[in-house]
Amino acid sequence: MEWHRRHVLGLSDFHPEEMEFVIDTARSMEEVLTRDIKKVPALRGKTVVNLFFEASTRTRTSFEIAGKRLSADVVNFSSSASSITKGETLLDTARNIESMKPSVLVIRHSASGAAHFLSRHLSCSIINAGDGANEHPTQGLLDLYTILKAKGKVAGLKIAIVGDILHSRVARSDIHSLGRMGARLWLCGPATLLPREMARSGATLTSDIREAVRDADVVIMLRIQLERQKTAYFPSLREYSRMYGLNREVFSLAKEDAIIMHPGPINRGVELSHDLTDHRPSVILDQVRNGVAVRMAVLYLFAGRRSPSVPARPGAGS
Ligand code: CP
Repeated sequence: MEWHRRHVLGLSDFHPEEMEFVIDTARSMEEVLTRDIKKVPALRGKTVVNLFFEASTRTRTSFEIAGKRLSADVVNFSSSASSITKGETLLDTARNIESMKPSVLVIRHSASGAAHFLSRHLSCSIINAGDGANEHPTQGLLDLYTILKAKGKVAGLKIAIVGDILHSRVARSDIHSLGRMGARLWLCGPATLLPREMARSGATLTSDIREAVRDADVVIMLRIQLERQKTAYFPSLREYSRMYGLNREVFSLAKEDAIIMHPGPINRGVELSHDLTDHRPSVILDQVRNGVAVRMAVLYLFAGRRSPSVPARPGAGS
């Protein structure tokens, strides 16, 4: 397959074959991660800049580890320690960083469309690591990869996504990645956090968590994003937890071999009970682990390469 993309801005324009290509590449990358020396020279001489304007634990760390596993030089930019605090704009900041010749900018920003905006002004590759409530494409890909590993397929599975759908970039990217691969998606949350237009994606909408979880193969719980909520969408966290939190009793409605996912960070005891968070069938830490292989694949395909073939073992023999 010829690879013409320069940016990963969102999954809304990704074809299923392109997602499969990234997943195949991630499988090769995962093999690298099983070796004693978990490093290949695939991106030697390339520079990856992590440009994070919003807090992150998993995404930023896994992009950094992914870049280093591929031998890229990785630079972490933190807005709180930058000249943003002196009033420099996003575009000026990005232009200044680009003038130092990175191969790829990985950007997280609280504004929807920030990565798209920069892609129109910069010539290096841009990878969206989460823009406001819009998209989180590498999370969508790692969720796809995690389900494929756990279930062997995605097509035909009932996948329930429960929580703050309105503010969730993960939900939007998962709708593209899992929906296009043939999953039967159910979106569940309070009516105030469940945009009706999401039904256009083909997903079934419900405010009844039991209906969403019943016979599900996968239950993806989302964090209540209080920092993005400008008004009260539900009476109290306690009531939200009672109505939309996943506990053993509600989860017992799912299929016997169902798995539980969550992109993190988790509000323990709010959207997910403690006992379900830490033990199987939770695959939450598998998601984090898989994020490294998926982000290695994404960096490998986008950090300056133009028409790569998928190597059986990236950098093998070097
Ligand atoms: N899933 C996710 O994006 O986590 P972080 O905010 O910690 O990167």
